[in-house]
Amino acid sequence: MAAYVRIGSTAEMPTPGQAREFSAAGRMVCVANVGGRLSAMDNVCLHRGGPLGQGFISGGKVVCPWHGWEFDPLTGAATHNAAACVPVYPLKIEGDDVLVLIS
Ligand code: FES
Repeated sequence: MAAYVRIGSTAEMPTPGQAREFSAAGRMVCVANVGGRLSAMDNVCLHRGGPLGQGFISGGKVVCPWHGWEFDPLTGAATHNAAACVPVYPLKIEGDDVLVLIS
C-alpha cells in the first residue's frame, strides 16, 4: 500500500540545479531541484542502472552520471524516448520534513 515516507529535512535537499539521492522504504530515490522546485523519481537509470541522484541538472533535466541519458524530473520521461519512463513519486513538504509517496 502506498504511503508517504520521510526522506530527510528541507535543509538536506539539493539546492537549485542539483540532484541528490535518498533512501526511502528500502529503495533509492533521486530528488531533483529545478528552479527551486523539488521532485522525486526512482534513482535507477533505465539504460544500465546508473545512480540518477549522483547526476546533475542540465536544461531542466536530470543527467545520468554514467553515460548521459537525460530524464524529465517531473514525468520521468527520457529526453530521447518519451516512452522510456523512470517512475516518479509525489513529493510533499510538511514543516521541516520532506516526504515522498512510495507505491
Ligand atoms: S546508466 Fe544511465 S546513461 Fe547509462
